[in-house]
Amino acid sequence: MHNWYHEIVATMVSPLVILCLILPLLLLFFFQNRRTINKKSLPPGPRGLPIIGNFHQLENSTLYLQLWQLSKKYGPLFSLRLGLRPAIVVSSSKLAKEVMKDHDLECCGRPKLLSQQKFSYNGLDMSFSSYGNYWREIRKICVVHVLSSRRVSRFSSIRQFEVKQMIRKISRHASSSKVINLNEVLMCLTSTIICRTAFGRRYEDEGTERSKFHGLLNELQDMNSTFFFSDYIPFLGWIDKLRGLHARLEQTFKDLDEFYQQVIDEHMDPNRKTPENEDIIHVLLQVKKQRSFSLDLTTHHIKAVLMDMLVAATDTTAATTVWAMTALLKNPRVMKKVQEEIRSLGGKKDFLEEDDIQKFPYFKAMIKETLRMHIPTPLLVQRETNEPCVIDGYEIPPKTIVYVNAWAIHMDPEAWKDPEEFLPERFLDSTKDIWGQDFEFIPFGAGRRICPGIPMAIASLDLILANLLNSFDWELPAGMRKDDIDTERLPGLTQHKKNPLYVLAKCSRKL
Ligand code: HEM
Repeated sequence: MHNWYHEIVATMVSPLVILCLILPLLLLFFFQNRRTINKKSLPPGPRGLPIIGNFHQLENSTLYLQLWQLSKKYGPLFSLRLGLRPAIVVSSSKLAKEVMKDHDLECCGRPKLLSQQKFSYNGLDMSFSSYGNYWREIRKICVVHVLSSRRVSRFSSIRQFEVKQMIRKISRHASSSKVINLNEVLMCLTSTIICRTAFGRRYEDEGTERSKFHGLLNELQDMNSTFFFSDYIPFLGWIDKLRGLHARLEQTFKDLDEFYQQVIDEHMDPNRKTPENEDIIHVLLQVKKQRSFSLDLTTHHIKAVLMDMLVAATDTTAATTVWAMTALLKNPRVMKKVQEEIRSLGGKKDFLEEDDIQKFPYFKAMIKETLRMHIPTPLLVQRETNEPCVIDGYEIPPKTIVYVNAWAIHMDPEAWKDPEEFLPERFLDSTKDIWGQDFEFIPFGAGRRICPGIPMAIASLDLILANLLNSFDWELPAGMRKDDIDTERLPGLTQHKKNPLYVLAKCSRKL
């Protein structure tokens, strides 16, 4: 009995022991083998480790720089493995054209990432929804009703009012020679503009309410740039739960959802006073009522679109204005030239309106040059292949993540003379524009997924920067030289200047 029992145990245990011993080897073989199978179809790239792929070699805040370095070694099309997911990186205008024009249909998906899915009510927004009928319909609704040039110009009184408020605030600092944190001032301005445009409310006046809402937005941005195992190594997804990320995600989503519900309820209140300006919620509720699209809008759709606007519009616009001021302070020659143009062609007005600004070619070229050198989304927004496709002779499988390193393309010496120089002049006699037709210059992306917010972005950038430059002369705080201004970036989809830009404003005339 004793021996028999031992024999059974031994026969059961030994396969277990063997399995335990060979399982890691099998896994290693599987992943290595997967690599070699993928290797045949994917372009070359740096060797990764089993399971984690190339993650250990990449760092979020300087990812665009690291990918640029890797492109020098592996070429303008190379591959990576992000956990278990294949990725390709494009770093030349020729290949960007292949991906975003010739193969745009196959490459215009978006990877489904946990946090983005949660905040977009499972892909009901525009930015993160997969390519297909739903995305086409929601994009059409937004482009026609919310983001068209006509609608954007109807929001101009909001922009003008808020920019005037900011100019007043800065002149108070100027008269007492107080140093200003431009990152803070400009972030506050752009989020107030978008809140009023979207909800019709100015959270700046509402103390705790404002800080609660801004706190939630910061938390959302934070979650969107947090690494989730579930996205890249699904079988380790349980670690996200252990790290408390699911609970954090759930809580932030719940708080934002309640906030949106409250503003939607206010808009649906029959006793609500008709506001001076129609805001985005009002417009979307009208579309919902008219049922003129094949899609029946629900409050979930409206909330997902609001989330989209807040995330896509606030940070990008604020970061671009800070980068423009950074570049101007580092290049006094350009600052002087652009101010001379604005002040002479602007007719010495105290406040410049959107129409005045169209007469300033050098100023317009300066904005383009800022978007070239300091593009706030250096890797655009991750795309994903919807189906197999052949790029540059390589067979790219479906569900491959696609990065377009727009920053590397904007700094390519083959396409740009002295790319490291901040030279607005390069855009004066050039036809290169922001609309996604010139693949050497793609600050707003290109193809089907091109940023639909360009008219709104340009209207805000124009008004904010032209008035900052018209109303004030800018100096650095005592003891600081222009070469001390750094250009380090914070991590995230949209990259802000890491260290605040501190400046002194001097009123250029009595306000
Ligand atoms: C300087 C400001 C801005 C920059 C640099 C910028 C840049 C971008 C980029 C690079 C993309 C991805 C394009 C692609 O995948 O090819 C994008 C997408 C998008 N942007 Fe902007 N953007 C800005 C302002 C805005 C504004 C003001 C709005 C709206 C109010 C907006 C709404 C969107 C949306 C909804 C998408 C996703 C489109 C889709 O996936 O179909 N953006 N933007």
